[in-house]
Amino acid sequence: MSDKERLTVGALVTLLLFLAPGYLLHVSPRFAGSIGGGMLGIAGAILLVLLLVYPLVKHVNWLNVRVTRRLPLRSLLAFHVYAGVVGPVLGILHSGHNYQSPLGIALVLAMLIVVLSGFVGRYYLAYVAIGLRQQEGTLATLREAYNRIADTLAGREAIPSDLAGKVAGARGSIPILPLVDTIAELEYAIGAREKVRQVLGRWMVVHVTASIVMYFLLALHIWSGLYYGLRWLP
Ligand code: HEM
Ligand code: HEM
Repeated sequence: MSDKERLTVGALVTLLLFLAPGYLLHVSPRFAGSIGGGMLGIAGAILLVLLLVYPLVKHVNWLNVRVTRRLPLRSLLAFHVYAGVVGPVLGILHSGHNYQSPLGIALVLAMLIVVLSGFVGRYYLAYVAIGLRQQEGTLATLREAYNRIADTLAGREAIPSDLAGKVAGARGSIPILPLVDTIAELEYAIGAREKVRQVLGRWMVVHVTASIVMYFLLALHIWSGLYYGLRWLP
């Protein structure tokens, strides 16, 4: 995953989150059914269908063998991610912020859940994992320092030269209590972050379940759009 992808997709997700509740500022009741609005909706829906190429190629063996010779899964996933944010942006623009029907609202909500869970899986979990590794590294260093001080105080070990100055003459004043405090705080922070990681680790279940719901609602939405008539069709 490139930095460029992370930054671009992050910016697009932010745009989406600002656009989605735009009905607070602006509503265009007739836009979704107009030519321009309709085209945006159709373009968005096409992207949402095309991004399924990634899971299809990933799971369907004979497709996988044929396609990945020319297009690695990595590229298909990059396309999945870009189409997965651009499609929803087009869909929201198409809506003209005119959230009228329960169906339209549910469709938009399901779509946002899919995008956010995808974002968590693709970028945020890695970010949490890096932070966790750093904290665990610090904790290991602190524990080692603690053990050395404890051993020294117990007289089991010769006083190391870097501690000698501090220990000299005043064993009780070694900063062991602040050290114990810091270790306890760090252990607590790591535990909390580990919990976050476990919860977010279930992103895939949310991502896939919300997608199934979203495609179902999208199909209904398109059907009702066609059924009640596209206003710009003769
Ligand atoms: C990216 C996917 C799409 C999303 C998220 C989306 C969302 C919406 C929303 C929120 C509305 C506002 C009205 C409501 O609340 O029901 C709307 C209206 C509408 N959509 Fe979509 N839409 C999408 C794709 C499509 C497609 C592909 C079509 C083509 C058939 C379509 C046809 C319509 C029509 C005709 C209206 C106007 C209904 C009216 O004004 O009475 N939409 N859409
Ligand atoms: C509305 C748009 C989207 C839909 C419908 C969708 C749907 C799916 C589906 C069905 C899978 C297959 C899960 C499997 O392998 O069984 C998947 C995987 C995945 N999606 Fe999405 N997705 C969307 C947008 C996104 C976005 C915006 C991102 C990232 C920002 C993303 C990131 C991922 C990742 C990382 C995987 C799993 C990759 C792997 O480990 O194989 N998706 N998505």
